[in-house]
Amino acid sequence: MTSNEIRQKFLDFYKKRSHAILPSASLVPENDPSVLFNTAGMQPLVPYLLGQAHPAGVRLADVQKCVRTGDLEDIGDNRHLSFFEMMGNWSLGDYFKKEAISWSYEFLTSKDEGLGLDPSRLYVTCFEGDANAPRDNESAEIWMSLGIPKNRIYFLGADDNWWSPGDNGPCGPDTEMFYDLTSGGLGDLSPAEFASATAREDIIEIWNDVFMEYEKKDGQVIGKLAKKNVDTGAGLERMTAVMQGKTTAYDTDLFSELITLAATLADDKRGQRVIADHFRTAVFMITDGVLPSNTDRGYILRRLIRRAIMKTTSHELLSDKITGLVNAVVTKYQTQYPELADHTDLIVKTIENEAVKFQKTLKDGLKEFEKGIDPFVLFTTYGFPVELTEELAREKGQIIDRDNFDEKMKEHQKLSQTASAGMFKGGLGGNSEQITKYHTATHLLHQALHDVLGDEVSQKGSNITDDRLRFDFSFSRKMTNEEKTEVEKIINQKIAEGLAVNSVTLPKLEAEATGARHSFGDKYGDMVTIYFIGSNLDSAYSKEFCGGPHVENTGVLGTFKIQKEEAVAQGIRRIKAVLL
Ligand code: ALA
Repeated sequence: MTSNEIRQKFLDFYKKRSHAILPSASLVPENDPSVLFNTAGMQPLVPYLLGQAHPAGVRLADVQKCVRTGDLEDIGDNRHLSFFEMMGNWSLGDYFKKEAISWSYEFLTSKDEGLGLDPSRLYVTCFEGDANAPRDNESAEIWMSLGIPKNRIYFLGADDNWWSPGDNGPCGPDTEMFYDLTSGGLGDLSPAEFASATAREDIIEIWNDVFMEYEKKDGQVIGKLAKKNVDTGAGLERMTAVMQGKTTAYDTDLFSELITLAATLADDKRGQRVIADHFRTAVFMITDGVLPSNTDRGYILRRLIRRAIMKTTSHELLSDKITGLVNAVVTKYQTQYPELADHTDLIVKTIENEAVKFQKTLKDGLKEFEKGIDPFVLFTTYGFPVELTEELAREKGQIIDRDNFDEKMKEHQKLSQTASAGMFKGGLGGNSEQITKYHTATHLLHQALHDVLGDEVSQKGSNITDDRLRFDFSFSRKMTNEEKTEVEKIINQKIAEGLAVNSVTLPKLEAEATGARHSFGDKYGDMVTIYFIGSNLDSAYSKEFCGGPHVENTGVLGTFKIQKEEAVAQGIRRIKAVLL
């Protein structure tokens, strides 16, 4: 069965069971500033899982484009992909465990309407129960009624069988389906044998049914939702591998053309897979409006393109190769995603420009390398990847002291964290909610002072307690009452706007290039975190180098009031302010 057939079968199956078929949402979340990309099929549906009525009804199904880039280093093994499609069906307070599980089983095993997989190769896991929710015997019983033997149902804890999109949002226990890929079939397995078979990837997870009836806030389950929802997710790439008898999606029809092209650019298999994976993701990202930059989404895209180039044998990607790879993705996916074909020129140009830029970085770094510069300096100053330095050194018969490099990296990351924390020395003792609010209010104040008093203002110190913030800054004279009122007005306006607060971690030079404020500049390490207030970094109201923590949205801050403005030294003013 081809990947196109699997997608279509899935949608047809659920359509026949009264589900409205939704088109995939954009990779870029429309109303959720807490994530850079949709990472699961449920993400665009969060408001509906939380209770809002969906215009298409209470039964939905789709195939959603997703991006996960948390583990780029793992890409190229059998399992990890930075882009994938997730097939999913949803019940918004309509059907629950019985229908969800029965349909999953039917779709997997039915020979005419489904995939016709062998039921004797299926294993399932259910939630074993904890303080938040009871053991899910109900799901296990449904599985048994469908013919899954009791000894192929394993109960696991929240690490395995509780699903949530992050620290906040709808969540719940889940039941996961696994398939045995071995040629002979493993048969009955003890829980320990099952665990090691999944670790070896002889048995792989193929589908997850989440019973979303709970809600999480700040990492804690806070209670039940008004409705019992179902959220399921089955990765198309994995399902295609299973259906085509492969151990990895890279060997399926989804990748065949891309891998053939990548094989003309790199000799090693893993490198070829990385090139194929990263190009596929880049094409979808650019189509959804992402362009390379030094911040958030654009930075991820830039890293993907650069990593793909690094995997080529020549560390170079010429136009004809770029065009070939882009066309391969567009051709493969344009039936399902017609928007790709409309963007082909833009995609090719964008990747070409990025390749030219990166080639220049590499050239500059190379010159420094020839001068014998420390690999660590090459990395921090030129963004020159240590793997490349190692490779170049090898060509010259030299060896890079990788332990020394790693040691320095660790040290600098530690320093960077200490420096960020030091910014609120003495003030940020704990993470109490109030302190966190004052921390975010301090960033708003810093920016509002710039707005009202101009760039003479620069931060000289800050101290926060549970009941007030204190902020010292350079300014030559006393503030007028009008200026103070104006500062309060701006901050309260930003609070009323309910702006998102987010962070991004970047190499120092790139972080500086974003224009983020960094009052204690030279204390920072080589990787720094920027907190920004506003939905994206480029247009954020405030951006500062900072280690956090911050509130997620300015809407929770209350009312900002300046209590005192005074001199603490020649040319240095101090503001004390409260949130009411
Ligand atoms: N939201 C669930 C997942 O991503 C289905 O696995």
